[in-house]
Amino acid sequence: MTGDPIRRALDDVWYCVGESRSLRPGAMRSVSLGEEAVVIGREASGALFALRDRCPHRGMALSAGRLVDGHLVCPFHGWQFRPDGVCAAIPALARRDDANFASVRLARFAVAEKSGLIWVHASANPASADPEAAPPIPEVEFDYCGQLVEILEVEASFDLVALSFVDPAHVAYVHDSWWWRPSKTMKEKVKQFAPSPFGFTMTSHTAKTASFAYRLLGSIPEVEIEFRLPGVRLERITAGEKRLANYTFASPLPNGRTALINAMYWNISGLTLLKPIARPLMRQFLGQDRDVLQIAQRGLDRKPAMVLMGESDVQSQWYFSLKREFLRAREAGTAFVNPLEPRELRWRS
Ligand code: FES
Ligand SMILES: [Fe+2]
Repeated sequence: MTGDPIRRALDDVWYCVGESRSLRPGAMRSVSLGEEAVVIGREASGALFALRDRCPHRGMALSAGRLVDGHLVCPFHGWQFRPDGVCAAIPALARRDDANFASVRLARFAVAEKSGLIWVHASANPASADPEAAPPIPEVEFDYCGQLVEILEVEASFDLVALSFVDPAHVAYVHDSWWWRPSKTMKEKVKQFAPSPFGFTMTSHTAKTASFAYRLLGSIPEVEIEFRLPGVRLERITAGEKRLANYTFASPLPNGRTALINAMYWNISGLTLLKPIARPLMRQFLGQDRDVLQIAQRGLDRKPAMVLMGESDVQSQWYFSLKREFLRAREAGTAFVNPLEPRELRWRS
């Protein structure tokens, strides 16, 4: 771990912490945002809450307790907390003990639910977090009939995982499964890029050498790939009325680990039948990234420097420029100004 903020995951942004369906009404569980432990829960009404997962009394994890009549009950001495974090009861207090427990409160995190995923804002005081100042939570822009989510833990830094989202040169070496990359020959690719809010977008083009996975859509698809801070890659595929969205996110975990989250959505009813086949393929694909990232991380642990070369690494440079500008804007208390210009990039893959 280094003290340089450019090396750390941003802390004033939203991160995906799991699937909506993983949290039924009345349930709670612990999630990590970097070194921060957060208890997320769902009230009987369906509303979500997110609080620091640490009882102020003796530090117990509240996620190990229970939700009783809408209150979080600490399993150590039974202190109770409302979903807004305010202490509501301390059962051990005698009647004459006038301790003011309502002044005890847990730090609260903003929590939101979009397209079947739960997102937590990583700064503990949502009042100060201007929602306009942070990259928006990704949403699916069409009515989807199917969804497939896979979450993997990677022993690699947030940056290394986020960089893999904008790294065209690794595809030919890491993802060379027949179903994704049928041709083994490297070809020169020409792609147009333009800045977009908190990131950049590879503008829509026709996938001429469509892979097997793309060809499942029937007609030749249009593909648009957007990257935005902190580590969000949104691939949108359109073929006539048919829509497929493949979203990938990185979320920071403790001890320099990172969650790699892939959520796929479609509006093609036939594709839902393929889910049992698609899931292991998605797992295989993400596992290819995980395996190589973990080994590369060990090299970076020995010497944390990267040599970025040529146009295939320009997007990686953009990632750091965006992050630097985000940190500068926060520090200065001014608006984020996207530092990127439209540009054509060429590489062989
Ligand atoms: S540690 Fe939570 S009630 Fe004592
Ligand atoms: Fe990859």
